[in-house]
Amino acid sequence: MKRKTFSIITALFLTAALYAQTENKAILEATKMKSKISRFVYSHFSEHLGHCIYEGLWMGENSPIPNNKGIRTDVAGALKQIKIPALRWPGGCFADEYHWKDGIGPKNERPKMINTNWGGVTEDNSFGTHEFLELCDQLGCEAYISGNIGSGTVQEMSQWVEYLNSDNESPMTDLRKANGREKSWGVKFWGVGNESWGCGGRMKPGYYSDQALQYSAFLKNHGDNRLKLIAVGPNSADYKWTETLMQEMGIRFWGLALHYYTSLNASATNFAEDEWFKVMKSTLFMEELISKHSAIMDQFDPFNNMALVVDEWGTWYQVEPGTNPRFLFQLNSLRDALVTGINLNIFNNHCNRIKMTAIAQIVNVLQSVILTQGEKMVLTPTYHVFDMYKVHHDAFLIPSSLESDNYIYEVDTVPALNISSSLDQNGKIHISVCNLHAQKTEDLTCQLKGYKASSITGQILTADKLNAHNSFDKPNTLTIQPFSEFSLDEGNIEVKMPPHSVVVLEVTGNLNIPDNSVKVNNAKPGLKYSMYKGSWYRLPDFTKLNIQKEGTVPVVEYPEEVPVNDIGLVFSGFIKIEKTGMYVFTLASDDGSKKTIGEEMLVSNDGRHAINEVEGSIFLHEGYHPITVEFFQASGGCGLQLFMQGIESDRVIVPENIL
Ligand code: AHR
Repeated sequence: MKRKTFSIITALFLTAALYAQTENKAILEATKMKSKISRFVYSHFSEHLGHCIYEGLWMGENSPIPNNKGIRTDVAGALKQIKIPALRWPGGCFADEYHWKDGIGPKNERPKMINTNWGGVTEDNSFGTHEFLELCDQLGCEAYISGNIGSGTVQEMSQWVEYLNSDNESPMTDLRKANGREKSWGVKFWGVGNESWGCGGRMKPGYYSDQALQYSAFLKNHGDNRLKLIAVGPNSADYKWTETLMQEMGIRFWGLALHYYTSLNASATNFAEDEWFKVMKSTLFMEELISKHSAIMDQFDPFNNMALVVDEWGTWYQVEPGTNPRFLFQLNSLRDALVTGINLNIFNNHCNRIKMTAIAQIVNVLQSVILTQGEKMVLTPTYHVFDMYKVHHDAFLIPSSLESDNYIYEVDTVPALNISSSLDQNGKIHISVCNLHAQKTEDLTCQLKGYKASSITGQILTADKLNAHNSFDKPNTLTIQPFSEFSLDEGNIEVKMPPHSVVVLEVTGNLNIPDNSVKVNNAKPGLKYSMYKGSWYRLPDFTKLNIQKEGTVPVVEYPEEVPVNDIGLVFSGFIKIEKTGMYVFTLASDDGSKKTIGEEMLVSNDGRHAINEVEGSIFLHEGYHPITVEFFQASGGCGLQLFMQGIESDRVIVPENIL
């Protein structure tokens, strides 16, 4: 009887949902471009776990498997193709029991240890700091090192930073030189612990905040290298953790980590539509998590100066039968490709807050991009999505709104489509779309605002079966294929999205955004500045204060004739843009500063702090644009510089000939 009632309700629900079916329509507003999708959103994670490091990345110099200084050449070559921007190491849970000095010096003298988290296997420390930095060099990526605050000490971590980053003479730098490396590496990204609420120390948020603040005081910038410290963030939906840390630590850290896995206690490749649907739904939860954690961060950091760093994400299934359960080895199917596409779309769309992420893990562990077995290597569907999506690296997000049809499975529903889009340095738009629906082709209309499209090409990743995967015997079951199921109709792009597919479209055309330059007659070189006296913690409202001094400067800089304590400065004038396009401005200051261009507040770098850089981007037409920079200096260190980077140009100090 119960079952009958249930199926009637289900039938009614399905019928209602069928009639409620919406047309799929995406509006992509090039006119509202503002934020840059940091390439670091596409970073990866490697841990001393199972066969990630040993056999996955590192074979040792004496291995018969081709290697360059011990690093697998096949794996390194494949990873270079997807342009990995940063690699996190050495863990994970492993990080909080790792003592870095055990992993330097002659290999035969390195102490061994037990990897207690991951199978109790013996770790011989043959892959350590120098080998990791060599790997990063070969991949052309930045290093992101997680320090040990669980079982280590402040001194140990601070010495690690010095060992890697200082060029001055000290016991640590002498040790580095004795180990064969003369010059410092300048590692920027440092994690202050890992999962300190769990394997990293079972700390409460208040206690962790105190610990992290203490560590941060001893992790120093050496030379010109500016550390980007990443605090341990919440476990999934632990909003209390985020709130406490933001309250206790403010925005002293560059980033706050977030860990969330799409987990399912079932096989990675042996499944039907029910488990496909569960995984889609659980992946979409990332949207809610990011929105809610960001909303908490917004209360303390309204200008997004602190990054949310999702440095562990991906699928977590049962291990492959017959493998060590603590080695977390799983295969990777078309379903994982969708998980990747959806997550990357979500990250792109939140790029004002999400400035870095790392999928777990790069090779042979959890949702890997590469699997190895002896001398064999397989590129997973996840790898191919990273390859397709690399067009979004450092591109400008085109905000999109999407009305999507529903994908209904039994009594549950998710949106069938998922999308993000960006404009690259060459003026091309890339639209990445996932069709989550297991059965149905979805017709999608993309309306472009502020862009006149002239031609389109496309790529697709899909397969006949939901659980299709690449194996060591059949490594090419899923590969990227050309896609042409689209048309351009009066400026709109009509796409036929096959079921269970990931598509990336490349659109060529021209931006068509209303002119935002202003007319200026008799422009004179330089910027006007007004000086104010006062002692502030945040920028005051200068319009309510009396000007103490006025003058002109050729560029945004601290005027020589101005005293260096307790002063405020407002610079104003025009910037002359030579070529229409997107520009990134970076304001570096000690203490607080902000910059407006035209009507828009572009960069806020407020508060008393050491030298700190904040960037903002804007679309500017050729011609003049009014700019203002406000700044205050309390006491101690002092600095102010404004940089810009345009299309096809490197970052430079905004030069005097355009001010
Ligand atoms: O990625 C596997 C493990 O998952 C990491 O070591 C840990 O940080 C997380 O719990």
